[in-house]
Amino acid sequence: MNFHIMTLFPEMIQQSLSNSITGRASDKGYISFNAVNIRDYTNDYKHHKVDDYTYGGGAGMLMQAQPIYDCYLSIKNKISEKTDKKPRVIYVTPQGSVFNQKMAAELAKEEDIIFLCGHYEGVDERVLEEIVTEYVSIGDYVLTGGELPAMVMIDAISRLVPGVLSNDESAMTESFNNNLLEYPQYSRPEEWMGKKVPAILLSGDHKKVDEWRLEQSIIRTKERRPDLYEKWLLENPPKPEKKK
Ligand code: ADE
Repeated sequence: MNFHIMTLFPEMIQQSLSNSITGRASDKGYISFNAVNIRDYTNDYKHHKVDDYTYGGGAGMLMQAQPIYDCYLSIKNKISEKTDKKPRVIYVTPQGSVFNQKMAAELAKEEDIIFLCGHYEGVDERVLEEIVTEYVSIGDYVLTGGELPAMVMIDAISRLVPGVLSNDESAMTESFNNNLLEYPQYSRPEEWMGKKVPAILLSGDHKKVDEWRLEQSIIRTKERRPDLYEKWLLENPPKPEKKK
């Protein structure tokens, strides 16, 4: 999977993602990061400007269409040397659909994804109309730029690309499987600050352990994420009690 990121701050992306699991996965060739500086594509050779005032007035500057479009074309041309498939182009914006695990899983099937990171007050609408295939937000709050949201999505997508996680890391039971949050977990020692590991986890009875974990997942989801719990309940309605 190749991630192409159009940004004014390529070092921010390249440095962050070259650490930890994403860094290891890119060293091994499972994923690659291609952070491209939009400023390198400006036609303003004197001042390297990429933004300008907004027509109609209003505070702040807008990223102009031309440097973004030319940056996009250079990435797209490289991709089309390998494949005829048109790449998906995600504009990260608080005005998009909210990113979730299901979207991450779906995007993990792509060979190439292009992210556009905005800055200032936004981007000229015309270039968005021309190149963007989807608008995606990471939540209902406003950040200073699109780099962090793009990295959040790239991290979540990367760990679902086959080979990126080791068997140990890719636990099948993790939060959001089935609309349930993950159950509580414990490691050594058996007792810490007077708190004991639940006895059932030491019992060696795998069936009982699985039942306990499911029960804990349900309790935790109901408490912390009632919205998810409602969804889970719709798919897992309580069984009617048998009449005696
Ligand atoms: N840019 C600024 N805030 C954002 C958000 N919440 N999601 C995606 N992109 C953004």
